[in-house]
Amino acid sequence: MKDSKVLIIGGTGFIGNALVKALEERGFSDVAAVSRSSHGVDVTDLETLLPFIATADYVINLAGHISFHKKDRDDVLKINNEGALNVLRACENGDVKKLLHMSSTAAFGFDHDLVTEETEFDWDKNKNLGYSYSKFLPNKQIHESGMPTNIIYPPLVIGPDSNVNVERLIQYVHGKSTVFAPPGINAYIDVRDLADAIVRVLEDAENKQNFIVAKENITFVELFAAIAEGLGQQSKIRKIPEFLKGPVVGISRLLEGLGISIPSENLFLGFKERKFDSTKISRMLGFEPKHGYRESLAESIKGFIS
Ligand SMILES: NC(=O)c1ccc[n+]([C@@H]2O[C@H](COP(=O)([O-])OP(=O)(O)OC[C@H]3O[C@@H](n4cnc5c(N)ncnc54)[C@H](OP(=O)(O)O)[C@@H]3O)[C@@H](O)[C@H]2O)c1
Repeated sequence: MKDSKVLIIGGTGFIGNALVKALEERGFSDVAAVSRSSHGVDVTDLETLLPFIATADYVINLAGHISFHKKDRDDVLKINNEGALNVLRACENGDVKKLLHMSSTAAFGFDHDLVTEETEFDWDKNKNLGYSYSKFLPNKQIHESGMPTNIIYPPLVIGPDSNVNVERLIQYVHGKSTVFAPPGINAYIDVRDLADAIVRVLEDAENKQNFIVAKENITFVELFAAIAEGLGQQSKIRKIPEFLKGPVVGISRLLEGLGISIPSENLFLGFKERKFDSTKISRMLGFEPKHGYRESLAESIKGFIS
């Protein structure tokens, strides 16, 4: 397997860079990371995928547009849903041994006690959450396809050389003496741990097994406190009371509707307690994430201030 050709689509971003490194460290000798801007491989255009996928043994699809802004909704749905299904189609046409698809814990929605890989969510009334919905949409078709597949569900990914998704959180806390944190909970994973998990799934997972890959669930208060600490700030972290959810989310949606750039999807989810059970991957593949959030965020912050 170590001589097989592994093609990472969307492999030039935050997770892709860590994954290329992890695969090479694990002895994979033929790893190609491609993307839209660097190789003209655009998941929304099937024709651009076909020649690359035709020569691949394993395909890992990381291509995605992470944006919680309403104005990006069409693009997000196109890349994350139609693009993912194009990758599936191209793999089915070729001679690919397995497709690994990168979803997100956002795909499980909210208001569950504890999310597992089996958790279902009724998206009918929540399609306005464009990014989350886009990370849910292609999964059923990928999972039920005749192709050998695995789907991976990470939560917030942090760590060295992080992307805009983490930067927007650091930017929010940066320079503030008082930081208002929504009352919710979310999980996180360090990018190096996630890369390790992806390699394990590629090497050892049975087809059609899907995995949540998270280190632990933490509150936004804890997350923002760790960012402030990493920035060397003495900020006070104040939890926004639950009862303000209606006005806060309502006003943010209104402002976003007026064209002011506020990711109201993020704010809405910030009021939710989203807890994830990631024991399946530990049980089945012996995966144990190593990096805690304080250390990982300190790494993200290094990149932000340098
Ligand atoms: N980061 C997180 O916190 C997080 C959490 C859960 C799930 N995920 C998922 O993990 C995947 C990778 O995320 P990331 O954090 O590495 O994001 P990233 O740093 O923004 O990288 C995204 C990658 O996708 C490529 N891409 C975007 N649109 C494309 C298109 N139309 N065709 C081909 N390639 C395209 C980008 O290349 P170009 O720049 O050349 O377009 C880049 O290589 C995404 O699917 C995301 O939804 C991320």
